[in-house]
Parts: sequence; C-alpha cells; structure tokens
Amino acid sequence: MKFGSFHFIFLFFLSLLLISWGTIGHRTVGKIAQKHLSATAKIEVKKLLGTEILPLVSTFADELRPHKQFDYTSKWHYLNAPEGLNYRDFVAFLAADTVPNVYSAVLNQIKVLKSPSQSKLNKKFALKFLVHLVGDLHQPMHVSRAIDKGGNDIEVKFLNKKNNLHSVWDTGLVEYYGLSYTEMATEFDDASPADIEKWQKDSLEKWIYESYKISEQLYAEVETNNNLDYDYFPSHAPIIKKRLLQGGIRLAGLLNELYKK
Ligand code: ADE
Ligand code: ZN
Ligand code: ZN
Repeated sequence: MKFGSFHFIFLFFLSLLLISWGTIGHRTVGKIAQKHLSATAKIEVKKLLGTEILPLVSTFADELRPHKQFDYTSKWHYLNAPEGLNYRDFVAFLAADTVPNVYSAVLNQIKVLKSPSQSKLNKKFALKFLVHLVGDLHQPMHVSRAIDKGGNDIEVKFLNKKNNLHSVWDTGLVEYYGLSYTEMATEFDDASPADIEKWQKDSLEKWIYESYKISEQLYAEVETNNNLDYDYFPSHAPIIKKRLLQGGIRLAGLLNELYKK
C-alpha cells in the first residue's frame, strides 16, 4: 500500500475517534426534528439553510473538527461534570462552569439565532451547530467524566472486538440496528402527544441532567462487566431509541419556540 493511502486511512480512522453520535444518529435527530417543525419554523429554517436540510447539516459540526481554525469549537460537543451530583447541584455546576461546553454552546447558538444584529451567515452557522449539539447532549456519554475523556479511555469488548464505551454509544449501538437514518427516524417517531409536550417543556438543564444520570449507570455497568456481549444491545436499545427521539422532538420544540409568530 502506498504511504499516501495509508496516511489517508490512518487519518480517517483517527477522525472517527473522539467524535459524537455518528452520522446516522445525528441525521436521525435532524430528520425527526424536521417532521415536528411548525409551518413557520419550516419557513424560517429554509430561509437560512436554502437547499440544505436539517438531517444533512446535523453533522456539519463534526466535519469542521479536523480543521485548526475551528479548534475553538471542539469543547462545544460535550460536558464533563464531577460525579454524584443531584439535580440542584448539577444545575449550580452548569451555571458556574467556565470552560466552554455543550450547555453554554447551545445557549450561545440560540442567542445568535435570536439576535437581530447577527448576519445571515452567522445564523446559518449557529443553526447547523444547534442541530448537532442538541443531538450530542442527548448522547449519554457526552455528559460524563473528564478523567476518562467521556468513556473514550474505557476499554470494552463489543461484539467480540476491542472498543471503548464512548464509541459504543456514539456509533456501535446505533449502527447495530442496521437501519438508514430515514428508516430509523420513521421507526422511532412514535412519541405520544403527551410525551411530546412534556419533553419539549423540560428545561435544557434537565435534558443534560438526564444524559448525566444515564452515563452514571453506563459507567457503573462496565465497572462490573466490560464485556458487552450479545445482550448489551437488546438491553440498551430502548435508551438509544429514547435519546434519539427526544433529541429530535426537543430540537423541533426549540426551533418552533424560536420562530413563533
Ligand atoms: N469527547 C471527547 N472528549 C470528551 C470528553 N472529555 N467527554 C465527553 N466526550 C468527549
Ligand atoms: Zn462522541
Ligand atoms: Zn459532536
């Protein structure tokens, strides 16, 4: 093999490390959101995105990551918190945390989208990031511990291969379904009107805390057993489904609110 292609393949796999819900997960969130947009929000989103669509812009933030000039966005994808916080202390932590994280990044994108003085180009960038980051913050391992880089340093066996806890949750379990993102969005999009109303009313802090509590459970499980064998997918598939669905429903709710008449 030529060095050139080896180099390319190496960089390609390196770029898959340390990212977020993979392509399918993010696109599923974007597609579900698209289906739940109000008429007004659809128009406003289209004004910014033109011919681009929510599911396809959902991975834009990861596509920037290899580029040095966007290094300043790399901490926007996740949040690291101390262990064992109750909801009150977690919210206090969010308010006090000064490192850039997914919480402050989401708030900042909303601010840009709301601001009359921001350019259309800045708003387009902010919308693309918002779609991505609402997805990321619903990935439980994106609200996790600094010490193991959100589970990237936690070695597990998944489907009899060496893997890490973070990557299993970004892509391993999502790809296990063997569905395209459109199939997945159709398959998962069955929330009741009551769930939709409740989920959209929950605060951003709550969305993030839910991931924090789930990752706490996932950490505890692999401490007992890090061989994630044939029963790991069936026992965790309901979490994958719920988090992708909530991500899509809540993203739609956020945009519907933002572009209310
Ligand atoms: N992705 C890369 N680093 C991370 C971290 N420290 N926590 C969560 N997700 C990450
Ligand atoms: Zn990730
Ligand atoms: Zn991300």
